[in-house]
Amino acid sequence: MPKVSEIMESMEYGPAPEDASAVRDWLRERGSFGHFIAGRFTRPGVTFASRDPSTGDELAQVTQGTARDVMKAVRAARRAQRGWGAMPGHDRARFLYAIARTIQKRERFLSVLESLDNGKPIRESRDIDVPLVVRHFYHHAGWAELAETEFPGHRPLGVCGQVIPWNFPLLMLAWKVAPALAAGNTVVLKPAEYTPLTALAFAEICAHVGLPAGVVNIVTGDGETGAALVRAPVDKIAFTGSTEVGRGIARAVAGSGKRLTLELGGKSPFVVLEDADLDAAVEGVVDSIWFNQGEVCCAGSRILVAESVAARFEALLRARMQKLRLGAPLDKSTDIGAIVDPVQKDRILRLIDRATAAGAELVGGAAAPGCFIAPGYLKNISPANPGMVEEIFGPIATLSTFRTPDEAVDLANNTRYGLAASVWSESATVATDLAARIKAGVVWVNCANLFDAAAPFGGMRDSGYGREGGREGMLDYLAAPVAPQRDPAPSEIVPAEAPEESAGIDRTVKLYIGGAQKRPDGGASYAAQDELIPLGNRKDIRNAVEAAQGGLAKWQGLGGHGRAQVLYFLAENLAQRRAEFAGFASPAEVDAAIRRCFFYAGFADKYDGATVSAKPGHLCHVQPEPHGVMGLIAPVAAPLAGFMALVLPAIAMGNAVVAIPSQDRPMAALTLAQVLACSDVPGGVVNIVTGPRDDLVRALAGHDGVSAIWHAGLGEGLAEVQRVAAETLIPVWTPQPRDWSGPQAQGREFLRAASRTKTIWLPYGA
Ligand code: NAI
Repeated sequence: MPKVSEIMESMEYGPAPEDASAVRDWLRERGSFGHFIAGRFTRPGVTFASRDPSTGDELAQVTQGTARDVMKAVRAARRAQRGWGAMPGHDRARFLYAIARTIQKRERFLSVLESLDNGKPIRESRDIDVPLVVRHFYHHAGWAELAETEFPGHRPLGVCGQVIPWNFPLLMLAWKVAPALAAGNTVVLKPAEYTPLTALAFAEICAHVGLPAGVVNIVTGDGETGAALVRAPVDKIAFTGSTEVGRGIARAVAGSGKRLTLELGGKSPFVVLEDADLDAAVEGVVDSIWFNQGEVCCAGSRILVAESVAARFEALLRARMQKLRLGAPLDKSTDIGAIVDPVQKDRILRLIDRATAAGAELVGGAAAPGCFIAPGYLKNISPANPGMVEEIFGPIATLSTFRTPDEAVDLANNTRYGLAASVWSESATVATDLAARIKAGVVWVNCANLFDAAAPFGGMRDSGYGREGGREGMLDYLAAPVAPQRDPAPSEIVPAEAPEESAGIDRTVKLYIGGAQKRPDGGASYAAQDELIPLGNRKDIRNAVEAAQGGLAKWQGLGGHGRAQVLYFLAENLAQRRAEFAGFASPAEVDAAIRRCFFYAGFADKYDGATVSAKPGHLCHVQPEPHGVMGLIAPVAAPLAGFMALVLPAIAMGNAVVAIPSQDRPMAALTLAQVLACSDVPGGVVNIVTGPRDDLVRALAGHDGVSAIWHAGLGEGLAEVQRVAAETLIPVWTPQPRDWSGPQAQGREFLRAASRTKTIWLPYGA
């Protein structure tokens, strides 16, 4: 027994284990688990063990879901959806509130169960995970109550298939289930195979509060069960997990008409500038990469520190790291618990080995017996080192330096991912400048890893698309009020010969790239609307994307008001040439195009961000940002109004576009090129390439420089595009209004699709 004076000397904590008896009794009573389908547990089928990773002990047997089980669950969800979706929002709100309250009452039980199943420290499951789960259901009880007034005309999507990972099992469930239910959908959720137990406890809560049977269904199992759910007849798939699996899911749902949101991996920068409060930044690292054993998709895993303070920062970091306590998850003084499974531990160690073999130096990070790895970091690491490029998903950061803020931005953005970033500087100017320039869905300024139900979370590039939380998250579970109509397929292209000698002053129709009329690369044409239309190819698309990239900075620099002026001017010039356009499109289309310019000129400085009520002491701002370069595929049926319905909202938000006009009736768009040129639309902002639609779209969707695609056609062409876009992980949106000249073909839904949000957390009144 150490003397009190000795304890005071070392300040060591004694063991303080949380009582797990209630959870162990519950597990004993339940024995093996079946699935939760149509409001009751099924008889267990073929089962597998869920284990406590800190000891390797079996906690329970759970059922490996088959494709039949998944179908049963989807049918139950389908049956329940009609009633649930039609229920007044207030009634749905009462259920969500009841769930929130019940979780609150069982907070201790759920925290212990989570820590046992996942290995995370009880301090985190008790103080972070479960309170956030409760907050999520409260917040979404609110959205259910307000849905009819806040989202007028919107409908639920139907049945949602949801696949979640093992790092925040109950929290990820809440992120998926709460908005889906609030919006009137029903769900089939598959928890991760390592951590199914809190989802099963949640199923009991659903039964306890009397949630109508089939509204929530839980099917346990591994990736095969997940794949069966992705294939099942559901209306949306929401996935959180690895980029590799996410990409496979995007491929699998291509052409199915299912909505898809993907929250994938990250390699998020943690930037410490020379004027940062270094002690605070070190605590930020602890909350970032050494939180949840580093098994956090948005972990600040790449620490970038200003060279001038790097030595001092590292000394502080190392001292703090050595104080972190690795140990039993249920011990209340443990900082770092167990890695979720031996498979995952091996994966982390292998990646560390590859990183050190490639020249990096590991500080700390020793493997301990069982599923434990001490916190550590890799230093002297080159940008191409696998430890710098790949997601380690363990308590191991990388540490490298930069000289100037510009270099910090370059390094921060030197990744395929774009999930989160943390920026540390005492200068508001420098910190917010970096926050604006770093490509990420979430940026924390002088803080790290803050989450809230009101704060949209999600990424870009290889980190996926879609948002969870807040209004944005709700919209990803709702269908906008449009009545879809199929666009006809384009006719076959008939190559045409240019006449040897043109009689008189002939008109030559050209592509429009970088603000200039350009001959197509192949020099070929096709016949349409009694003209020779340039037959664009892959090279033309490449040139157009490059031109668009070149046009972005100037266009975005104009700001909303500047862009509005250009759009008004465009309307004026269009109106002057009304008669000419009437030759290529109906008068209704010409009118709609002119009015639409005014509409988006009006909106250019009004589709704003919002500051949401997240945590006190912070300003949490949700900023819509342009995607960058967008690929637009205009409808065949409405050559002018349809074309403008896509181009105008995209450019109003500050994107530059490569637009492919109606293959059969491209003349309106090609004539528009001349109007764009004389309306102060800077070169490169709108690029127009005509030719074989499906070939051009494929080239666009596969181009690295394109960040989003809108495709107004349906059918096989679209499926192919979605397959190509699955590889680059860019979102494909398919607007299908009933009438391209009508009011349904414009509005907020278009502006939302022309942007993605960045959630910026700033200290405020703290
Ligand atoms: P994973 O992506 O395989 O697992 C996530 C979920 O997807 C689980 O429920 C799994 O059963 C399911 N799943 C697996 N294959 C599927 C398929 N073909 N179709 C549908 N669902 C499928 O992740 P895993 O293998 O557990 O971890 C591997 C790496 O992924 C980690 O080391 C980490 O780098 C990353 N990861 C990232 C997460 C994030 O939150 N961004 C979460 C989990 C893992």
